[in-house]
Amino acid sequence: MMKPQIIEMSRTHPPLVPDVFDPEYRAAMIDVMTRYTPSEMVGAHRWMGTEADRQAGATFTGHRLGTEPEPGRVIVTNGTQSAFNMLLGGLVGHDGVLAVENLTYPPILILAKRFGFIPKGVAMDGEGMLPDALDALCRTDRPKALYLLSTLQNPTTATMSLERREAIVDVARRYDLQIIEDDIYSLLPKNLPPPIAALAPERSWYMLGVAKTIAAGMKIAYVVAPTIAQAEAQFWPGVRATFWMAAPISAAISTQLIESGGAERIIAAVRQEMISRHGIVRPILDQTDFVTRDGALHVWIRLPDGVVAPELATQIRERGVNVGTGDPYALPGEAAPHAIRIGIGHAKPQSELETAMRIIANSYEHARRALR
Ligand SMILES: Cc1ncc(COP(=O)(O)O)c(C=O)c1O
Repeated sequence: MMKPQIIEMSRTHPPLVPDVFDPEYRAAMIDVMTRYTPSEMVGAHRWMGTEADRQAGATFTGHRLGTEPEPGRVIVTNGTQSAFNMLLGGLVGHDGVLAVENLTYPPILILAKRFGFIPKGVAMDGEGMLPDALDALCRTDRPKALYLLSTLQNPTTATMSLERREAIVDVARRYDLQIIEDDIYSLLPKNLPPPIAALAPERSWYMLGVAKTIAAGMKIAYVVAPTIAQAEAQFWPGVRATFWMAAPISAAISTQLIESGGAERIIAAVRQEMISRHGIVRPILDQTDFVTRDGALHVWIRLPDGVVAPELATQIRERGVNVGTGDPYALPGEAAPHAIRIGIGHAKPQSELETAMRIIANSYEHARRALR
């Protein structure tokens, strides 16, 4: 018997935009192969990126930061998660405390176990981390660093106003915290306030991966360190590890896409596709307690008391759709949130997205009725 096809909605991949992506990527690949001698390009590690890579990273991050950082502060890595491995070990270290949102990106919790640092949750509202709660944590637990998303927080999609960003910076300065800002979801929404790193460059590690806008499989993330010396101390030559380095071909293609404007054109196409997808998703969910925001690659649905997220996710899966729950985002010892998380970029045709959303809305309604 054929295995039934499952529609994958648990990931926050951006939608494929082949009409724009394929010609841009092919052209970039051809340019790279023409400009460089393959044996020389692939014959050595990429270290922190070539000068051209770091300049491209400065251009790419500069769109969000407002001004281009000095290329020496930019490190090209093979993805945000790899950069975490270097930063969290180095900035927080064994038995150190890392302040995080009270629902945080799950790999942080896995790395906490691996490196022996202690993640401590800070309460959030619709704008993300609360400055007063961060202040209280700083007094009791003396964190060394703070990891957060100021835009489209994962999983809640909370997004900070400028005032909130400034208030977080005030606390970080008062307690001398390093700030690790993951801005990976910030390239699709329009009219955002600047990242926190632009307000406090002296203590910020700004991370901008391409996974949520250009392509997850490229495995490229740019990190902007507070200073050139700090960039070198955390990555190279201070730390002799190479696993986090970008593969030369991917780094070179990313550089080429940024230089040619192809990156911007791909991002614009993804943004457009997401506007259309939000138009499908939001009306279908109007009877649920959902949150999302323009440019978000996912929807967060809070569940009525009594509906158990993993049970609902199982029921939805039995009907052919794979969704995530809030459970992996909860800190150790904390209760899991009553919520499911649905990636809306991954389903290929929009008709598949619509089918999946109807199954989800239906299953939610069914679970709610069963409570009565
Ligand atoms: C908050 C956050 N950061 C980073 C990533 C991706 O990281 P990488 O650049 O390693 O693919 C994701 C993907 O799910 C994410 O949700």
